[in-house]
Amino acid sequence: MKKLITTPIYYVNDIAHLGHAYTTLAADVLTRFFREQGEQVFFLTGTDEHGAKIAESAKKEGKDPKEFCDEKSELFKKTWENLNIKYDHFVRTTDEKHEKAVKKFLENLKDSIYEKEYEGLYCTGCEKFLTEKELVDGLCPDHKKEPEKIKEKNYFFKLKDYLNKVEKLIESGKLKIEPDFARKETLALLKQDLDDFSISRQKVKWGIEFPFDKNQTIYVWFEALLNYVSSIGYGTDEFNEWWDDAEIVHLLAKDILKFHTIYWPAILLAAKQKTPDKEFIHGFFTVDGQKMSKTIGNVIDPNDIVNEFGVDGARYLLLSQFPFGQDGDFKKEKFIEKYNSDLANGLGNLVARVLKLATDKKLEPEKNILDRTKQTRDNYLEYFKDFKLFEVLNEIWKLIAFCNEYIDKNKPWESENREQIISNLLYAISEIAFLIEPFLPETSEKIKKQLENNKSIILFKRMLSIT
Ligand code: ME8
Ligand code: MG
Repeated sequence: MKKLITTPIYYVNDIAHLGHAYTTLAADVLTRFFREQGEQVFFLTGTDEHGAKIAESAKKEGKDPKEFCDEKSELFKKTWENLNIKYDHFVRTTDEKHEKAVKKFLENLKDSIYEKEYEGLYCTGCEKFLTEKELVDGLCPDHKKEPEKIKEKNYFFKLKDYLNKVEKLIESGKLKIEPDFARKETLALLKQDLDDFSISRQKVKWGIEFPFDKNQTIYVWFEALLNYVSSIGYGTDEFNEWWDDAEIVHLLAKDILKFHTIYWPAILLAAKQKTPDKEFIHGFFTVDGQKMSKTIGNVIDPNDIVNEFGVDGARYLLLSQFPFGQDGDFKKEKFIEKYNSDLANGLGNLVARVLKLATDKKLEPEKNILDRTKQTRDNYLEYFKDFKLFEVLNEIWKLIAFCNEYIDKNKPWESENREQIISNLLYAISEIAFLIEPFLPETSEKIKKQLENNKSIILFKRMLSIT
């Protein structure tokens, strides 16, 4: 089986923060897992670089927009490198390959495009038109700013022509939208009268030139969605090899649900392309109970977490807070506690204790241990296939707790049965090393080496807790 796993492409007006890291890390973990299962996976991420919002941010820093984007997209790459996130392609919407593919795609969409005068309320923060209904006290609910009244001649995509078809895709299960809240929300949106949407902008200069009208640029959201096809070579022979043959899986959070679950399949239908197989929409999280925002000053830089807790420590802390798919809260003050209890004491201590007592003599593991580890592995596979990353981690850590209790109960240091007990534990640890690999790749490697050499080196240094 082949899989194409994507994340949203992130706006470069902001640093790569914990929200971006969360989705991208989840994609990395899933990629590693499905590869381990023998699948061929292409993991795609990147940056969204056009539009008024980016142009304004560049101007604020006194930079030319392209130069600004070059710098910021580098920071995203650096952050993913620090988190040991291994993507196959990093798309930038200012790449020539992307621009060419986008223009070509528009040519193929010609019959579904028309021109009209339009007046609407635009929020540059969202990079989208808002309806009166969506405003709260006249302000954009996300950016707390009054949207701009815009009157322009725009080119429109005939979305209405495709809404029934999109609904059918979802109802038949051909397009799976998970978890269920996201599927329901999409179906509810489809019941409302959605309008055709504008795919060009008249006054925005920082964008890709609109092929049918050189005085316009392509609407940033429209071309951003096209990254999923431009990146794998839309318009060339290599394209079909991935788009038609692979299971297409998009990961995103619910802030951009409508664009992905409705607009995107409609655009693909209009262009006579295959629609995605699955869209997994995760929740939105807060930090210590508050929305993460520049104004509040609580934006977390994932690089800081890596510096404090190490790569695998950061990877673990990010995905072990709350179930993937649900809203949640990152309790930063609890990070040290969680790190100490699960990594330093839980996993690290287990490996150290067992290796200290290990000799070269190894016996076959006993049936109760084989059964116990098999139970974990079975649940692990079930949960992983449903993208239940939090539950997967719980399963592994239950096995770790079981092993620590097994030592306490059987006291191998004073037992006549010492060799058997230690052999059982060494087997369980080798299983654990295998199971944690997608989440903690470096630690997994270290444990495998330590098992080979029968020598333990501290995996996670305990940290001083201030509380
Ligand atoms: O929307 N909780 O980019 P963006 C969970 N360029 N996830 C979060 C989060 C939070 N608090 N904050 C951010 C855009 N995210 C467009 C996308 S795709 C064709 C174009 C993650 O920089 C989550 O994945 O605003 C969310 O969907 C994404 O960042 C939005 O990133
Ligand atoms: Mg956003």
